[in-house]
Amino acid sequence: MSYDRQKILETDRKHVWHPFTQQKMYEKIDPVIIVRGEGLFLYDDAGNQYYDTISSWWVNLLGHTNKRVSAAMKKQLDTLEHVNFSGFTHPYATGLIDELREMIPEVFTRYFFSDNGSTAVEVAIKMAFQYWVNKGIKGKNSFIMLNNSYHGDTLGATSVGAVDLYHATYKPLMFDTIRVTAPYEVNPTEDYTFDAMAEYDSASFEPMRKAMEENKNSVAAVIVEPILQGAGGMKIYHPEYLNDLRKCADEHNILIICDEVATGFGRTGELFAFMHAKGFKPDIFAISKAITAGFMPLALTVTTEDVYNSFYGDIMKTFFHGHSYTANPLACAAAIETMHIIKENNYPHAKHEVMEHFHSRLRELQQFDFVGDIRYKGFVGAIDIVKSRKDKTPFDSNRNVGFEIYQESLKHGLVLRPLGNVIYWWLPMIVERADIDIIINKSIEVIERVISR
Ligand SMILES: Cc1ncc(COP(=O)(O)O)c(C=O)c1O
Repeated sequence: MSYDRQKILETDRKHVWHPFTQQKMYEKIDPVIIVRGEGLFLYDDAGNQYYDTISSWWVNLLGHTNKRVSAAMKKQLDTLEHVNFSGFTHPYATGLIDELREMIPEVFTRYFFSDNGSTAVEVAIKMAFQYWVNKGIKGKNSFIMLNNSYHGDTLGATSVGAVDLYHATYKPLMFDTIRVTAPYEVNPTEDYTFDAMAEYDSASFEPMRKAMEENKNSVAAVIVEPILQGAGGMKIYHPEYLNDLRKCADEHNILIICDEVATGFGRTGELFAFMHAKGFKPDIFAISKAITAGFMPLALTVTTEDVYNSFYGDIMKTFFHGHSYTANPLACAAAIETMHIIKENNYPHAKHEVMEHFHSRLRELQQFDFVGDIRYKGFVGAIDIVKSRKDKTPFDSNRNVGFEIYQESLKHGLVLRPLGNVIYWWLPMIVERADIDIIINKSIEVIERVISR
């Protein structure tokens, strides 16, 4: 197929408003026109190949255009494309839940569909709030979140966000929240974070304990990205923190929401990131992104019989929430096949050895003075780019090094899309040791080129 490059760029420049993009930065730069994806690669209109090291905003799980998922969707296309999910059900939704029930602890009995990560979080927030209303407990109108949290861009999700760059502007529109010092900010280590599995520092939980104790009557829930905060800078914390959170939440009648939108389906080395904390279970958790391996928007908010039962009965207890594309059958078909593939391949456990290799390659980056901290969990890895780790100097804030690295990476057949000066890799399950070597070697070549300018 041929593409009219000039026409695409003209329409894009004149009429498209891209997400999370300061459009002015593209005044003199053309966006890359991606026309095809296969496996680990994206291809542009000129046939250039790029390693997709960020799994296309963390949705891609099995490589691009996985043949089995695309076949399942093609079959579904001629069967049922959509039906409203209020009053009707369909085997594609229930089939997906049957699959998920085999992967998720039994205590989670209720699954509420929506269509993206932000909506799954929005549902969780409203559910937690209304849980207390339905139980007749008044005044629980607030939420606690950790510094650097990111939960999506709708207003509820924004309210529980704590990355000032993304969230501060909208403050006047937000409901009340309590922002708590993140675990890694308490007694921060001089050493590298790596997988944050150094001995658990129980002092790291104290700010959270204090906030929960002081606000127990006004807080409906604590919301966390378990173990790994993504958009806030790929920050990693010890799983034991979640067990402390559970104990404290039970003492103070506060619910726990885990946002597994990014971390779900194996990316951190366990099927869900909260599973790194043995025995820990949230009250509600949100999943999306990788659930369809990147084929279709779909999300679920998963909860317990206890939460569900508080909504059961009186009309005023109803959960008045729904989206037009709730439980879209095409998305469900993609998700069912994705679950089959995860199970048949024993993902993510079958990839632990490859993950270890990834981690050891990341640890080697200590040799570079421009590498600040190094963090990893499963197939997610990140490094902070600094002027000098030895001299403890950050990069000049007037220079957008992250953006320069992004631009340079494209010239080297790689998509690196840094978060500020944090370079990260978010790899799909199909990645092998040799791919990791190429990706890390190329990445370092790109970074060295940029910082030596
Ligand atoms: C942890 C987390 N929650 C929620 C979201 C929002 O998901 P979506 O972009 O599908 O609305 C994201 C997106 O990156 C995320 O990382």
